[in-house]
Amino acid sequence: MRTQVGIVGAGPAGLMLSHLLQRAGIDSIVIENRSNQYIEHRVRAGVIEHWAREFLIETGVGARLEREGLIHRGVNFAFAGNLHEIDFQALVGRGITIYGQQEVVKDLVAARLAAGGAILFEAAGASVHDFDTDKPKIRFTRGGRAETIDCDFIAGCDGFHGVSRPSVPAGVLTTYDRVYPFGWLGILSQSPPPNKELIYAFHERGFALYSMREPMVSRLYIQCDPDDDADNWPDAKIWEELHLRLGGTAKLVEGKVMQKSVTPMRAFVTEPMQYKRLFLAGDAAHIVPPTGAKGMNLAIADVRVLARALDGFYREQRSDLLEAYSATCLKRVWKAQRFSYWMTMMLHRLNRENDFDLRRQLAELDYVTSSKAAATSLAENYVGLPFE
Ligand code: DHB
Repeated sequence: MRTQVGIVGAGPAGLMLSHLLQRAGIDSIVIENRSNQYIEHRVRAGVIEHWAREFLIETGVGARLEREGLIHRGVNFAFAGNLHEIDFQALVGRGITIYGQQEVVKDLVAARLAAGGAILFEAAGASVHDFDTDKPKIRFTRGGRAETIDCDFIAGCDGFHGVSRPSVPAGVLTTYDRVYPFGWLGILSQSPPPNKELIYAFHERGFALYSMREPMVSRLYIQCDPDDDADNWPDAKIWEELHLRLGGTAKLVEGKVMQKSVTPMRAFVTEPMQYKRLFLAGDAAHIVPPTGAKGMNLAIADVRVLARALDGFYREQRSDLLEAYSATCLKRVWKAQRFSYWMTMMLHRLNRENDFDLRRQLAELDYVTSSKAAATSLAENYVGLPFE
């Protein structure tokens, strides 16, 4: 097999990159170790920044998002028994869209397949080779047969646990990370959300988030221990905790828990995001804690930069955009890292032995929900910073 850009991973980064390249007349093949069924149903976050919504629509993969995505003007913070709205639309003239990541994945898979694009699902044991030459290769097995893709460039869009990043020779990449001492229990339930827009709740028992997917489907999160097990959370305990942490600020209706799982929280950045002809995008290069919902938005931002750089290379034989890829993306990545850190440290119960942090966090929440300057800063970061 031969293509121009070999893409490892069919998540939002890999699929969107393949889609953007096809629009620029550049061939790609995407390989994915999971099945199509698996990637289209794995539940992830669901907040789409304003520019990302426009970008998906403008590039022809936003029709269903326009019909089904829920446009929110802002979000709410619940603390000390009160609910406070931050109206992004009023503060910065833009809002956000609630649309599950797996819906974006479904739309991208459909668009790629309709355009005759190659997505090779259930490709096992992928490995990347020779990206320090101009003839990189991707090897894998599929249906028991060993296969090779010869390409000009490799895009490693294979997530935090993927094979691409560890294939870069030792000493080339510098990594920066932080492990947070808590995790999130994520729940999908058959119940109406307690409010029409999201509620981020801070409570001395811990953080909780009340989001949604559809009028009768809620997406809820509870701060828990990082190594907690979803089996420790029977439905009755989930609802009890969700009621307590909401603190009476809205009416919570219980429903059937359809799915639950624990995600540990960490932050991670690798620099640079490129080595010769191997480019890392999305979670393969960086992870943010979920408070602020930046993960998929960063993945889309990376491949937008990468697709333009590859277009410049093929169309105008320029390599400057490819050389600038990492620096261009990292500026945005670190700002998202900063924002996610700030949201995380404002909203999670930190040190239970000493209430200094609790007092500081209540003051921070009071400030953010009462100062127009602070609320505007939150709003412009939440809806997505502009591109330079
Ligand atoms: C959702 C997830 C987040 O991490 C967040 O900050 C807001 C919303 C969600 O899944 O809807």
